[in-house]
Amino acid sequence: MKVIAFVGSPRKGGNTDRLVEEILTGAMEAGHQTEKVYLMDYALTPIDAVYGDEMSWTDPRQDVADELINKMVQADVVVLGSPVYWFGISGLLKLFIDRWSLYQRDGQRLMELTAGRRMVVVLAMADPQPGYVETVLAPLRQAAKWLKMEWAGQVIASGVSDPGDIESHPQALSEARELGKSL
Ligand SMILES: Cc1cc2nc3c(=O)[nH]c(=O)nc-3n(C[C@H](O)[C@H](O)[C@H](O)COP(=O)(O)O)c2cc1C
Repeated sequence: MKVIAFVGSPRKGGNTDRLVEEILTGAMEAGHQTEKVYLMDYALTPIDAVYGDEMSWTDPRQDVADELINKMVQADVVVLGSPVYWFGISGLLKLFIDRWSLYQRDGQRLMELTAGRRMVVVLAMADPQPGYVETVLAPLRQAAKWLKMEWAGQVIASGVSDPGDIESHPQALSEARELGKSL
């Protein structure tokens, strides 16, 4: 089985990255093939509003977003990691998700390619008692549903601000490892 993770934090080695790494380590321990993609390494640009054009529903640009989504559709499990920025996911992850709308391969739209696959979400945030986590998760749950993907779980670390803070949250790290193993 293949597990691919997209890290939507610009901080390599930050809290989101550490949790994602733990999930992938667990998945590797369970014998799965894993890959981690730092979205920050790609020059993702916003979706172009060509979707109103009934001709295509395809993005004429065929750029890095296309390359990354190609990777995504080849995986059985997709891990989306993001810091909470302004009570939502990071702009970086959102840029990537928006680009899903114009993806096609061999005439198939994304949802036809993702049906039956699984999604995992990782969130890291500074607020120690965020009452709004469900509102951050809600669009991602809806996205999974839209793509006919199964929600395979989430790991939420609250009260982590600086890189390294996550090391004082062994419970979140072990939750991530266990989730990875269970995939
Ligand atoms: C632009 C920006 C907005 C943020 N907004 C929130 C927020 O709404 N709620 C929160 O709890 N933390 C917020 N934070 C803090 C980050 O979520 C926190 O530092 C997190 O651990 C960063 O994860 P990372 O190390 O993976 O980048 C924000 C940080 C930045 C830079």
